[in-house]
Parts: sequence; C-alpha cells; structure tokens
Amino acid sequence: MSYIAANILETIGLTPLIKLSRYTENVEGNIFAKLEYFAPGLSKKDRMALEIIESAEEKGLLKKKQPVIELTSGSMGTGLAIVCNLKGYPFIAVMSRGNSIERAQMMKAFGAEVVLVDQHPDSEPGKVTSKDLDLVEEKTQKLTKKYNAFRIDQFTNPSSVETGEKRLGPEIIEQLGDIKIDAFVDFIGTGGTFIGVSKSLQKAFPHIKCYGVEPVNAPFYSSIQKTDGKHIIQGGGYNIPLKFIEENKELINGFITVSDCEVTEATRLLALKECIFAGDSSGANAAAALKLLKGDLKGKNVLIHIPDSGTKYLSTNLWDILDK
Ligand SMILES: Cc1ncc(COP(=O)(O)O)c(C=O)c1O
Repeated sequence: MSYIAANILETIGLTPLIKLSRYTENVEGNIFAKLEYFAPGLSKKDRMALEIIESAEEKGLLKKKQPVIELTSGSMGTGLAIVCNLKGYPFIAVMSRGNSIERAQMMKAFGAEVVLVDQHPDSEPGKVTSKDLDLVEEKTQKLTKKYNAFRIDQFTNPSSVETGEKRLGPEIIEQLGDIKIDAFVDFIGTGGTFIGVSKSLQKAFPHIKCYGVEPVNAPFYSSIQKTDGKHIIQGGGYNIPLKFIEENKELINGFITVSDCEVTEATRLLALKECIFAGDSSGANAAAALKLLKGDLKGKNVLIHIPDSGTKYLSTNLWDILDK
C-alpha cells in the first residue's frame, strides 16, 4: 500500500527510538534515545509548534492570516516557521544573536521574518543567559503590539506540556513494547517536554524516577553553588524560575548538573559511537543518563531524547574536531 504525505506537516512525529548500545559499552544498564531531530525542522519543537497552532485554531484564538510571533532559541521558531508557512500565517521569530546563526538561516529559509537581538554587554556569543533572554522578551512584547500578533509564549502555553503528555510520551511507551523504563532525564529550557513526558511515563511506569538536567554553571533548581549562568547549551539553562517546574514539583525526583566539557564530550561520542549527529542539549541528556548508570541506577533502563540536530551547531566550537 502506498502512502504519500500531502505536505511536510504530515511527517511530523513518529520518530525512531533506539538503544545506545555502543555509547553505554563501559557501563551496566541501557539508555534508550528518542530521536526528535528526525523532524522537518531538525528539532523536537516541530511537534510542539504544530500542537500549539492547531490548538489555538481549535480554540478560535488565532484569526485567519494573523501574524504569529515568538521568542525563540531557534528550535520552536523553526517549527513555527514551517507550520505557519504551510498554514498561511506570517511568522516573526525573535532570537538572541547569542544563538547559532544556522537557526536564523533555517527560519528565514522557511519564510519567517527573523529579528535578531543583540546580547547584553555582560554576555558572550554562544552563551545565552537570562539577561539576553530579557532583552529578547522586551523586543517580542513590542513587536507583538506593533503587529497585533498572536504570541505563542512557550514558557507558559499549556500546549508545551500537553505535547509531551499526549503525543511524545505515548509514542515512546508504544515503541518500548514490553521494556520498562526506570528513569527519564531531560535538559530543561521551558521544562515543557520534561514535565509533559514525565506525566505520561509516570502513568505507564509508576516507579520511574524523573530528573531535570541543568548546566553546572546555571543550576537554578540544583542545590549547588550559584555561578554566572554562562554555558554553551542552547535552548535552555536560563537560570530562571519556570512555571511548568514550579507547578509540577511532585513529579520531579531531582536535578542533575552537567558541565560544558561533559556536554561536548557526550555529544561527540554520540556521533562517533552511535552516528547520532546531535546538538549540545542531546549531549547534556546523554551525559546525565550515563551519570545515573554509573551511580545509583547501575544496571537500569534510562530514557532520554535527542532534541535537535548537530547541523544547527556547525558554526560553534562543538564540531571543531578536524586536525589543524
Ligand atoms: C535544542 C533544544 N534542546 C532543549 C530544549 C529545552 O526544551 P523545553 O523547552 O521543552 O524544556 C530546547 C528548547 O527550545 C531546545 O531548543
């Protein structure tokens, strides 16, 4: 039987789930990875962007051809650029110049208007902090008024959590078949994926432990010494209180911190050992999962997801691996 998708939106979802056998060769236990970079915008946020726009359409919140706007590190923006393009909404992405340029290029290629906001004088390129995020938020609010645009607001929009709870989580559980998962670890940006997927997994595996992942330099929820908040992981680790985390603390068993070095090493190992070409937050998840298997969860099954593709980081130091 043939099946031809009517457009790229129909290809969002149903990503592969794989066992990282070679990445875990020196430890006891398993890591299962859901490859969310198998999406048209190369990130997990395509799923969320589709859910958010369709939910707004169903609720009558979004008018025909109304401009849509969002503050983004580039992942949600790329998902929205695709969804809005195909559904006929003009889309404005507001992003910090601290994020990698590939993200802006992709959004523009998909027809978005891309507004880049200069970083705070205290910040460094490639390391987006809460001060940078504040500047992007300020600009987004101004443009929302100017264009009378529909603001997505991924940090508070319930669809951020619902996508994990009703779509990504159930898809993973179905793919797992008889395999039971003991822990889920997830790097947090808005915390939407972490909380949504945790909600879904806790129904299927009542004893599962769910851990948020934070940069060691931006450990907002981890009980360790606070630092300047600068780190390389794009899309999260903003060192700020998060609505979804605050409202769902009972679901969370703790937080794991990862350093820039651990993240880079893990991301490169994913490529070398598993041929998974991913971004820094994927390395953060993989590094945190390995810490669990080396510690209290020796011999257990840990689930992670791979949020985006390494091709969005070619301009960063992540792939500075050629002999000079
Ligand atoms: C590459 C990447 N990884 C992880 C995250 C964090 O995801 P969430 O906002 O669901 O916590 C984001 C968020 O934009 C992201 O872009």
